[in-house]
Amino acid sequence: MAIYDRIEHVISGSNSELKEIKDVLSSYYNFTTTTDGIIEIEELEGGEKFTGDSYVITLKKQLHLKMQEMLDAQLATITALSTLAETCDSNTHNHIQRIKLYCLTIANYLHTNNYDYDEIDEEFVDNIFYAADLHDIGKISVPHDILRKPSKLTDEEFDTIKKHTVYGAETLQSVLNMHPKNKFVEMGVNIARHHHERYDGTGYPDKLKGTEIPLAARIMALCDLYDALRSERPYKQPLDHTTAKNIILDEMNTQLDPVLVEVFLSCEEEFMRINDALPATA
Ligand SMILES: [Fe+2]
Ligand SMILES: [Fe+2]
Repeated sequence: MAIYDRIEHVISGSNSELKEIKDVLSSYYNFTTTTDGIIEIEELEGGEKFTGDSYVITLKKQLHLKMQEMLDAQLATITALSTLAETCDSNTHNHIQRIKLYCLTIANYLHTNNYDYDEIDEEFVDNIFYAADLHDIGKISVPHDILRKPSKLTDEEFDTIKKHTVYGAETLQSVLNMHPKNKFVEMGVNIARHHHERYDGTGYPDKLKGTEIPLAARIMALCDLYDALRSERPYKQPLDHTTAKNIILDEMNTQLDPVLVEVFLSCEEEFMRINDALPATA
């Protein structure tokens, strides 16, 4: 059984699963039973003694802590990988940090204002904050000289760049195959593959149209566009908020989901605040 499944199983269990808890924890702690039947647990900071229910409660607390530690390590790994992908590109400083906050802002607005989307719940809002990191992870597999080319790309070079969506999604799909119930990885696949689809069906790689495009990818498309407009590129100066907003309004129903453009208008102060707080220059 995978470690997560084991921990999940144990945490939802009862006293009868004491042995299993002990087995799980034995990778992390030393267990010894004294002559009077007290179980001693030794960890890095020394030993503690527990009996009966308090023993189970303490083990559960420790399991939660261990799970949190593992999650933190996983999230740090994701951030490291996405930062690596970011350095391959001509994206500006803080791009990923801004993008994830923009996505969180939109998703949170949809959730708190009870928009009628099946996908939206608290878990969706939590997940998009981290899954946003993964949107361009496939750029690691695209030749860097093409990604950083300051002059106009040839059609062939542009086709090569477009493949970052497929490369990223395929990599994450292999993780999803191992953890098919993991909503976070599933969202990562959707965002990586579909963040360049357009609402009118003329995007890539699959030419999905309207709500065929997963919601998280539709949110990312809007946030990525706003950030690109507000950032300097080798071929353009950064635009001010109002100019960027007008371009987003022009893209309603063509590139962007009209409902999300409305949400963006409701949250525009927050977008400005994020852009000012995390500047595009180091
Ligand atoms: Fe992309
Ligand atoms: Fe991006």
